[in-house]
Amino acid sequence: MNATVKLEKKHFPVLLNELNSIISPLYSGTFIDCTFGQGGYTNQILKNKNNKVIALDRDKKTSINVLNFQNKFKNNFLFKNIKFSKINTLNLENEKLKAVIFDLGYSTNQIQDPDKGLSFSSKGKLNMQLGLNEFSAHDVINKLNSKDLEKIFKYFGEENKSKIISKKICQMRKNKIIQTEDLVKIINKIKFNNKSKIHNSTKIFQSLRIFVNNEVSELIYGLINAFNLLPVGGMIVVVSFQSIEDRIVKYFFKNYSEIKNPSRYLPKRSDEIALFDQVKSKPIVPSKKEKKINPPSRSAKLRYAIKINKSGDFTEFIKKFQNLLDIENLSKKLWKSLYLLLY
Ligand SMILES: C[S@@+](CC[C@H](N)C(=O)[O-])C[C@H]1O[C@@H](n2cnc3c(N)ncnc32)[C@H](O)[C@@H]1O
Repeated sequence: MNATVKLEKKHFPVLLNELNSIISPLYSGTFIDCTFGQGGYTNQILKNKNNKVIALDRDKKTSINVLNFQNKFKNNFLFKNIKFSKINTLNLENEKLKAVIFDLGYSTNQIQDPDKGLSFSSKGKLNMQLGLNEFSAHDVINKLNSKDLEKIFKYFGEENKSKIISKKICQMRKNKIIQTEDLVKIINKIKFNNKSKIHNSTKIFQSLRIFVNNEVSELIYGLINAFNLLPVGGMIVVVSFQSIEDRIVKYFFKNYSEIKNPSRYLPKRSDEIALFDQVKSKPIVPSKKEKKINPPSRSAKLRYAIKINKSGDFTEFIKKFQNLLDIENLSKKLWKSLYLLLY
Protein backbone atom coordinates (compact mmCIF):
# COMPACT_ATOMS: atom_id res chain seq x y z
CA MET A 1 0.00 0.00 0.00
CA ASN A 2 2.73 2.40 1.05
CA ALA A 3 4.74 1.50 -2.01
CA THR A 4 1.76 2.39 -4.22
CA VAL A 5 1.38 5.80 -2.59
CA LYS A 6 5.07 6.50 -3.10
CA LEU A 7 4.87 5.43 -6.71
CA GLU A 8 1.90 7.72 -7.37
CA LYS A 9 3.73 10.72 -5.99
CA LYS A 10 6.93 10.16 -7.95
CA HIS A 11 7.61 12.78 -10.57
CA PHE A 12 9.01 11.39 -13.83
CA PRO A 13 11.48 13.94 -15.22
CA VAL A 14 10.29 14.79 -18.73
CA LEU A 15 12.64 14.52 -21.76
CA LEU A 16 15.54 13.63 -19.46
CA ASN A 17 17.63 11.77 -22.07
CA GLU A 18 17.12 14.54 -24.62
CA LEU A 19 18.15 17.17 -22.05
CA ASN A 20 21.21 15.15 -21.15
CA SER A 21 22.42 14.83 -24.72
CA ILE A 22 22.01 18.58 -25.27
CA ILE A 23 23.84 19.73 -22.15
CA SER A 24 26.48 17.00 -21.75
CA PRO A 25 28.96 18.67 -24.17
CA LEU A 26 29.07 21.53 -21.64
CA TYR A 27 29.91 19.27 -18.67
CA SER A 28 32.51 20.36 -16.05
CA GLY A 29 30.99 23.50 -14.63
CA THR A 30 27.99 25.02 -12.87
CA PHE A 31 24.38 24.50 -13.97
CA ILE A 32 21.37 26.36 -12.61
CA ASP A 33 18.30 24.14 -12.30
CA CYS A 34 15.61 26.83 -11.95
CA THR A 35 12.85 24.31 -11.18
CA PHE A 36 14.35 21.71 -8.82
CA GLY A 37 11.08 19.88 -7.95
CA GLN A 38 12.04 16.32 -7.03
CA GLY A 39 15.51 16.85 -8.46
CA GLY A 40 15.29 14.60 -11.54
CA TYR A 41 17.31 16.98 -13.72
CA THR A 42 19.74 17.92 -10.94
CA ASN A 43 20.42 14.26 -10.20
CA GLN A 44 21.21 13.60 -13.87
CA ILE A 45 23.64 16.55 -14.05
CA LEU A 46 25.38 15.58 -10.80
CA LYS A 47 26.10 12.07 -12.08
CA ASN A 48 29.16 13.80 -13.53
CA LYS A 49 31.40 14.57 -10.55
CA ASN A 50 32.88 17.67 -12.21
CA ASN A 51 29.51 19.40 -12.26
CA LYS A 52 27.90 21.63 -9.67
CA VAL A 53 24.18 22.51 -9.51
CA ILE A 54 22.60 25.58 -8.03
CA ALA A 55 18.96 24.55 -7.69
CA LEU A 56 16.00 26.89 -7.19
CA ASP A 57 12.38 26.24 -6.36
CA ARG A 58 9.63 28.54 -5.11
CA ASP A 59 7.97 25.65 -3.22
CA LYS A 60 9.32 25.25 0.33
CA LYS A 61 8.05 21.66 0.38
CA THR A 62 10.84 20.69 -2.05
CA SER A 63 13.21 20.98 0.94
CA ILE A 64 12.33 17.33 1.73
CA ASN A 65 14.23 16.41 -1.44
CA VAL A 66 16.95 19.00 -0.82
CA LEU A 67 18.27 17.25 2.33
CA ASN A 68 18.97 14.01 0.44
CA PHE A 69 20.82 15.92 -2.26
CA GLN A 70 22.90 17.88 0.28
CA ASN A 71 23.95 14.66 1.98
CA LYS A 72 24.80 12.93 -1.27
CA PHE A 73 26.44 15.71 -3.29
CA LYS A 74 27.83 18.01 -0.54
CA ASN A 75 29.44 21.16 -2.01
CA ASN A 76 28.41 20.28 -5.54
CA PHE A 77 24.81 21.10 -4.67
CA LEU A 78 23.28 24.33 -3.41
CA PHE A 79 19.57 25.08 -3.00
CA LYS A 80 17.73 28.41 -2.82
CA ASN A 81 14.04 28.80 -2.09
CA ILE A 82 13.50 31.69 -4.52
CA LYS A 83 11.47 32.39 -7.65
CA PHE A 84 13.49 32.03 -10.84
CA SER A 85 12.73 35.60 -11.93
CA LYS A 86 15.15 36.51 -9.09
CA ILE A 87 17.98 34.45 -10.57
CA ASN A 88 19.96 37.70 -10.92
CA THR A 89 20.32 37.86 -7.11
CA LEU A 90 22.57 34.75 -7.07
CA ASN A 91 26.23 35.24 -6.33
CA LEU A 92 28.04 33.52 -9.20
CA GLU A 93 31.41 35.18 -8.79
CA ASN A 94 33.39 31.94 -8.51
CA GLU A 95 31.23 29.81 -10.77
CA LYS A 96 31.95 28.57 -14.29
CA LEU A 97 28.32 28.92 -15.39
CA LYS A 98 27.40 26.63 -18.27
CA ALA A 99 23.62 26.53 -18.56
CA VAL A 100 20.35 27.69 -17.04
CA ILE A 101 17.52 25.14 -17.19
CA PHE A 102 13.77 25.66 -16.74
CA ASP A 103 11.27 22.77 -16.49
CA LEU A 104 8.10 24.82 -16.18
CA GLY A 105 4.84 24.16 -14.38
CA TYR A 106 4.30 21.85 -11.45
CA SER A 107 5.35 18.35 -10.47
CA THR A 108 3.26 15.24 -9.87
CA ASN A 109 3.49 15.52 -6.09
CA GLN A 110 2.27 19.14 -6.23
CA ILE A 111 -0.84 18.29 -8.25
CA GLN A 112 -1.57 15.50 -5.77
CA ASP A 113 -1.08 17.78 -2.75
CA PRO A 114 -4.60 18.67 -1.49
CA ASP A 115 -3.26 21.83 0.24
CA LYS A 116 -2.19 23.28 -3.10
CA GLY A 117 -5.61 22.74 -4.72
CA LEU A 118 -4.16 22.64 -8.24
CA SER A 119 -6.54 19.91 -9.37
CA PHE A 120 -10.23 20.32 -10.13
CA SER A 121 -10.85 17.18 -8.08
CA SER A 122 -9.59 19.02 -4.95
CA LYS A 123 -12.13 19.90 -2.29
CA GLY A 124 -12.70 23.06 -0.28
CA LYS A 125 -10.93 26.39 -0.52
CA LEU A 126 -9.36 27.29 -3.86
CA ASN A 127 -5.61 27.86 -3.61
CA MET A 128 -3.13 27.14 -6.49
CA GLN A 129 -0.15 28.83 -4.81
CA LEU A 130 3.11 27.07 -5.74
CA GLY A 131 5.05 29.05 -3.13
CA LEU A 132 6.16 32.64 -2.32
CA ASN A 133 2.79 34.00 -3.47
CA GLU A 134 0.86 37.11 -2.49
CA PHE A 135 -2.70 35.85 -3.00
CA SER A 136 -4.60 32.67 -3.81
CA ALA A 137 -7.16 31.54 -6.38
CA HIS A 138 -9.74 31.90 -3.60
CA ASP A 139 -9.03 35.66 -3.49
CA VAL A 140 -9.18 35.94 -7.28
CA ILE A 141 -12.51 34.12 -7.68
CA ASN A 142 -14.17 35.81 -4.71
CA LYS A 143 -12.88 39.35 -5.20
CA LEU A 144 -12.14 40.38 -8.79
CA ASN A 145 -15.00 41.79 -10.88
CA SER A 146 -16.56 39.95 -13.78
CA LYS A 147 -14.66 41.86 -16.50
CA ASP A 148 -11.28 41.15 -14.89
CA LEU A 149 -12.11 37.46 -14.39
CA GLU A 150 -13.15 37.25 -18.03
CA LYS A 151 -9.78 38.63 -19.15
CA ILE A 152 -7.88 36.11 -17.03
CA PHE A 153 -9.94 33.18 -18.34
CA LYS A 154 -9.75 34.37 -21.94
CA TYR A 155 -6.07 35.24 -22.21
CA PHE A 156 -4.48 32.80 -19.74
CA GLY A 157 -6.88 29.91 -20.38
CA GLU A 158 -7.95 30.57 -23.97
CA GLU A 159 -11.46 29.64 -22.71
CA ASN A 160 -14.19 30.64 -25.17
CA LYS A 161 -16.91 30.62 -22.49
CA SER A 162 -15.00 33.15 -20.36
CA LYS A 163 -17.72 35.80 -20.30
CA ILE A 164 -20.60 33.63 -19.15
CA ILE A 165 -18.44 31.74 -16.63
CA SER A 166 -17.27 35.03 -15.03
CA LYS A 167 -20.85 36.30 -14.86
CA LYS A 168 -22.10 33.12 -13.19
CA ILE A 169 -19.26 33.27 -10.65
CA CYS A 170 -20.18 36.84 -9.69
CA GLN A 171 -23.87 35.91 -9.44
CA MET A 172 -23.21 32.92 -7.21
CA ARG A 173 -20.86 34.79 -4.93
CA LYS A 174 -23.64 37.18 -3.90
CA ASN A 175 -25.00 34.28 -1.81
CA LYS A 176 -21.92 32.29 -0.86
CA ILE A 177 -18.15 32.07 -0.84
CA ILE A 178 -17.04 30.06 -3.87
CA GLN A 179 -15.07 26.89 -3.20
CA THR A 180 -13.37 24.52 -5.65
CA GLU A 181 -16.49 22.33 -6.04
CA ASP A 182 -18.69 25.40 -6.75
CA LEU A 183 -16.37 26.59 -9.50
CA VAL A 184 -16.30 23.14 -11.12
CA LYS A 185 -20.11 22.99 -10.94
CA ILE A 186 -20.49 26.40 -12.63
CA ILE A 187 -18.13 25.38 -15.43
CA ASN A 188 -19.78 21.96 -15.94
CA LYS A 189 -23.21 23.53 -16.16
CA ILE A 190 -22.09 26.00 -18.83
CA LYS A 191 -20.00 23.51 -20.80
CA PHE A 192 -22.44 20.59 -20.49
CA ASN A 193 -22.14 19.66 -24.16
CA ASN A 194 -18.41 20.19 -24.50
CA LYS A 195 -17.07 17.75 -27.12
CA SER A 196 -13.40 18.43 -26.43
CA LYS A 197 -11.14 15.66 -25.07
CA ILE A 198 -9.86 17.87 -22.25
CA HIS A 199 -11.77 18.21 -18.98
CA ASN A 200 -14.33 21.06 -18.82
CA SER A 201 -12.37 22.80 -16.06
CA THR A 202 -8.83 22.48 -17.45
CA LYS A 203 -8.65 25.89 -19.12
CA ILE A 204 -10.14 27.87 -16.23
CA PHE A 205 -7.89 26.12 -13.70
CA GLN A 206 -4.85 26.72 -15.91
CA SER A 207 -5.68 30.42 -16.19
CA LEU A 208 -6.03 30.78 -12.42
CA ARG A 209 -2.72 28.98 -11.82
CA ILE A 210 -0.92 31.26 -14.31
CA PHE A 211 -2.42 34.36 -12.69
CA VAL A 212 -1.87 33.34 -9.05
CA ASN A 213 1.77 32.42 -9.69
CA ASN A 214 2.60 35.32 -12.06
CA GLU A 215 3.80 32.72 -14.51
CA VAL A 216 4.06 35.13 -17.46
CA SER A 217 6.34 37.66 -15.77
CA GLU A 218 8.26 34.85 -14.03
CA LEU A 219 9.10 33.37 -17.43
CA ILE A 220 9.82 36.65 -19.24
CA TYR A 221 12.14 38.01 -16.52
CA GLY A 222 13.57 34.56 -15.79
CA LEU A 223 14.70 34.29 -19.43
CA ILE A 224 16.10 37.83 -19.60
CA ASN A 225 17.97 37.45 -16.31
CA ALA A 226 19.30 34.03 -17.33
CA PHE A 227 20.68 35.56 -20.54
CA ASN A 228 22.35 38.38 -18.59
CA LEU A 229 23.99 35.95 -16.13
CA LEU A 230 25.39 33.54 -18.70
CA PRO A 231 28.78 33.97 -20.34
CA VAL A 232 29.01 33.79 -24.13
CA GLY A 233 28.80 30.07 -25.02
CA GLY A 234 26.33 29.42 -22.19
CA MET A 235 23.01 27.74 -22.84
CA ILE A 236 19.37 28.30 -21.90
CA VAL A 237 17.09 25.24 -21.98
CA VAL A 238 13.34 25.43 -21.43
CA VAL A 239 10.75 22.66 -21.19
CA SER A 240 7.24 24.09 -21.41
CA PHE A 241 3.80 22.49 -21.15
CA GLN A 242 1.27 24.96 -22.47
CA SER A 243 0.94 27.21 -25.49
CA ILE A 244 1.39 30.58 -23.75
CA GLU A 245 4.72 29.50 -22.26
CA ASP A 246 5.91 27.99 -25.53
CA ARG A 247 4.96 31.13 -27.46
CA ILE A 248 7.07 33.26 -25.11
CA VAL A 249 10.09 30.93 -25.25
CA LYS A 250 9.90 30.49 -29.03
CA TYR A 251 9.70 34.24 -29.59
CA PHE A 252 12.59 34.93 -27.21
CA PHE A 253 14.95 32.49 -28.93
CA LYS A 254 13.84 33.06 -32.52
CA ASN A 255 13.51 36.81 -32.43
CA TYR A 256 17.01 37.24 -31.01
CA SER A 257 18.69 34.68 -33.22
CA GLU A 258 17.95 36.41 -36.49
CA ILE A 259 20.08 39.26 -37.72
CA LYS A 260 17.59 41.89 -38.75
CA ASN A 261 19.94 44.48 -40.16
CA PRO A 262 18.49 45.48 -43.55
CA SER A 263 21.85 46.43 -45.06
CA ARG A 264 25.45 45.44 -44.38
CA TYR A 265 26.45 49.08 -45.08
CA LEU A 266 24.43 50.40 -42.16
CA PRO A 267 25.82 50.25 -38.62
CA LYS A 268 24.08 47.64 -36.50
CA ARG A 269 21.81 48.78 -33.67
CA SER A 270 22.04 46.92 -30.38
CA ASP A 271 18.63 45.29 -30.98
CA GLU A 272 19.72 44.06 -34.41
CA ILE A 273 22.58 41.88 -33.25
CA ALA A 274 21.87 38.16 -32.97
CA LEU A 275 22.08 36.95 -29.39
CA PHE A 276 21.51 33.24 -29.86
CA ASP A 277 22.80 30.43 -31.99
CA GLN A 278 21.55 26.87 -32.58
CA VAL A 279 17.91 27.80 -32.45
CA LYS A 280 15.83 25.10 -34.09
CA SER A 281 12.40 26.18 -35.29
CA LYS A 282 10.85 22.86 -34.19
CA PRO A 283 10.86 21.94 -30.51
CA ILE A 284 12.01 18.56 -29.18
CA VAL A 285 8.99 16.55 -28.00
CA PRO A 286 8.65 13.25 -26.06
CA SER A 287 8.75 9.96 -27.94
CA LYS A 288 5.65 7.76 -28.20
CA LYS A 289 7.21 5.51 -25.57
CA GLU A 290 7.72 8.35 -23.08
CA LYS A 291 4.16 9.61 -23.58
CA LYS A 292 2.86 6.12 -22.89
CA ILE A 293 4.91 5.63 -19.73
CA ASN A 294 4.32 9.18 -18.48
CA PRO A 295 1.11 10.69 -19.96
CA PRO A 296 1.61 14.18 -18.40
CA SER A 297 4.67 14.51 -20.68
CA ARG A 298 2.44 14.56 -23.79
CA SER A 299 2.34 18.36 -24.08
CA ALA A 300 6.05 18.95 -23.30
CA LYS A 301 8.20 20.99 -25.68
CA LEU A 302 11.92 21.48 -25.22
CA ARG A 303 13.69 24.47 -26.78
CA TYR A 304 17.26 25.59 -26.26
CA ALA A 305 19.73 28.18 -27.51
CA ILE A 306 23.36 29.17 -27.04
CA LYS A 307 24.31 32.73 -26.14
CA ILE A 308 26.64 34.27 -28.72
CA ASN A 309 26.65 37.94 -27.72
CA LYS A 310 27.47 39.61 -24.47
CA SER A 311 24.51 41.93 -24.01
CA GLY A 312 21.07 42.42 -25.45
CA ASP A 313 18.18 44.85 -25.48
CA PHE A 314 14.91 43.14 -24.54
CA THR A 315 12.50 46.07 -24.82
CA GLU A 316 10.82 44.55 -27.86
CA PHE A 317 10.40 41.17 -26.14
CA ILE A 318 8.64 42.77 -23.16
CA LYS A 319 6.48 44.89 -25.47
CA LYS A 320 5.42 41.86 -27.46
CA PHE A 321 3.83 40.28 -24.37
CA GLN A 322 2.73 43.53 -22.68
CA ASN A 323 -0.96 42.57 -23.03
CA LEU A 324 -0.36 39.46 -20.92
CA LEU A 325 1.74 41.39 -18.41
CA ASP A 326 -1.11 43.94 -18.12
CA ILE A 327 -3.51 41.15 -17.20
CA GLU A 328 -1.08 39.92 -14.57
CA ASN A 329 -1.05 43.47 -13.20
CA LEU A 330 -4.72 43.10 -12.27
CA SER A 331 -3.22 41.46 -9.18
CA LYS A 332 -2.35 44.98 -7.94
CA LYS A 333 -6.06 45.75 -7.85
CA LEU A 334 -6.69 42.53 -5.97
CA TRP A 335 -3.89 43.29 -3.57
CA LYS A 336 -5.40 46.70 -2.79
CA SER A 337 -8.79 45.17 -2.05
CA LEU A 338 -7.23 42.56 0.25
CA TYR A 339 -5.12 45.20 1.96
CA LEU A 340 -8.08 47.55 2.52
CA LEU A 341 -10.03 44.69 4.02
CA LEU A 342 -7.31 43.87 6.52
CA TYR A 343 -6.46 47.40 7.70
C1 LIG B 1 7.86 20.36 -13.52
S1 LIG B 1 8.48 20.62 -11.94
C2 LIG B 1 10.20 20.33 -12.10
C3 LIG B 1 10.57 18.89 -12.01
C4 LIG B 1 12.05 18.63 -11.98
N1 LIG B 1 12.70 18.96 -13.23
C5 LIG B 1 12.33 17.17 -11.64
O1 LIG B 1 12.91 16.49 -12.47
O2 LIG B 1 11.96 16.73 -10.55
C6 LIG B 1 8.44 22.34 -11.76
C7 LIG B 1 8.97 22.87 -10.45
O3 LIG B 1 9.23 24.26 -10.64
C8 LIG B 1 8.81 25.00 -9.53
N2 LIG B 1 8.51 26.35 -10.02
C9 LIG B 1 7.51 26.73 -10.84
N3 LIG B 1 7.59 28.04 -11.10
C10 LIG B 1 8.69 28.51 -10.45
C11 LIG B 1 9.32 29.79 -10.35
N4 LIG B 1 8.81 30.85 -10.95
N5 LIG B 1 10.44 29.88 -9.60
C12 LIG B 1 10.97 28.80 -8.97
N6 LIG B 1 10.41 27.56 -9.03
C13 LIG B 1 9.30 27.42 -9.77
C14 LIG B 1 7.61 24.25 -9.00
O4 LIG B 1 7.41 24.54 -7.63
C15 LIG B 1 8.00 22.80 -9.27
O5 LIG B 1 8.62 22.23 -8.15
